[in-house]
Amino acid sequence: MERILSAIKPTGKLTLGNYIGALSHFKDFQDQGESFIFIADLHALTLPIEPEDLRNNSRDIAAFYIASGLDPKKTTMFLQSSVSAHAELNAIVQNYLYMGELKRMTQFKDKCSKMADTAIGMGIFAYPVLMAADILLYEATEVPVGEDQAQHVELCRDLVRRFNHRYGEILKLPKAVVPTVGARIMSLTDPTKKMSKSDPKGDIFLHDDPRAMRKKIMGAKTDMGPTVTLDPQEKPGIANLLTIYAALDRIPLEEAAHRFDGYRYGDFKKAVADKLDEVMIPFKARYQEIVDSGSYLDVLRDGARKARAVANKTLHKVQEAVGLLTL
Ligand code: TYM
Repeated sequence: MERILSAIKPTGKLTLGNYIGALSHFKDFQDQGESFIFIADLHALTLPIEPEDLRNNSRDIAAFYIASGLDPKKTTMFLQSSVSAHAELNAIVQNYLYMGELKRMTQFKDKCSKMADTAIGMGIFAYPVLMAADILLYEATEVPVGEDQAQHVELCRDLVRRFNHRYGEILKLPKAVVPTVGARIMSLTDPTKKMSKSDPKGDIFLHDDPRAMRKKIMGAKTDMGPTVTLDPQEKPGIANLLTIYAALDRIPLEEAAHRFDGYRYGDFKKAVADKLDEVMIPFKARYQEIVDSGSYLDVLRDGARKARAVANKTLHKVQEAVGLLTL
């Protein structure tokens, strides 16, 4: 049976990129095996964040998980910091990954290339180690993520091979599962840049109201030529909007391109904004109900209990393998 694991870190307001690349897929996995979806709050500490923001963002993600269709009976949802085995396994596996490997991580380079060494915390450098520990604790076979996280999962695979070569078949080899449409949603103001939690103009935030979302879609940067065709090289802005439409409508990109072939940009953008309304309005209504009821707190408490049992078992196995006395 498959074991599915993924997470989102509560560093800022969730974006349409997070929704399309990750969140909206999680529910598809919960019928395929045992699924563990958590809030990566320890990871959120790797860059400065106000305690109140961290708390609010964490609650927010829990409510978004449930609103997206994750069912606590099928998916174990929890806070990373509620399961101490994450930090304990991290302390062990950090010895099997190397500085050179971590320095090569694209996300680290993007985030820290312009920062002085004295300003780069150890946590952000060693981030993929903790992420590997996250994955390994639950013996995950499938890790649904957007494209930017696939390199970290690859590193985790290297770690597993290295560790198992030394100690025998202890760790499970995971694989990243990247969506075929929408693995990398780009900024609406600059379609050569990834949509990220820190770009208020080019991002659509799940918290934006429908009017703001529509305004951002209608104002999205488009390309030369008056009508729609799928050409990611020459028309990256249109390709990004076609991707957003296809992902939200759950159709292949080519089908979306066919549907809007020859449309004028304004009419096409209106169709994308309408599709976004169709998906987001009921999703956010469910989110609001969950926030108002506070029901996510019990889900997280319950989830932490189940997660601890699974994680501690793996931790114990690893401790024994490396020679720690487990008394
Ligand atoms: P995070 O919080 O940066 O992003 C959460 C998920 O959203 C995806 N994503 C995108 N997908 C498409 N287009 C975009 N523009 C876009 N932006 C973000 C990300 O790929 C991710 O799947 N390290 C992880 C959290 C994590 C984790 C884990 C994930 C911690 N431990 C173990 C999987 C397994 C992160 O920072 O994701």
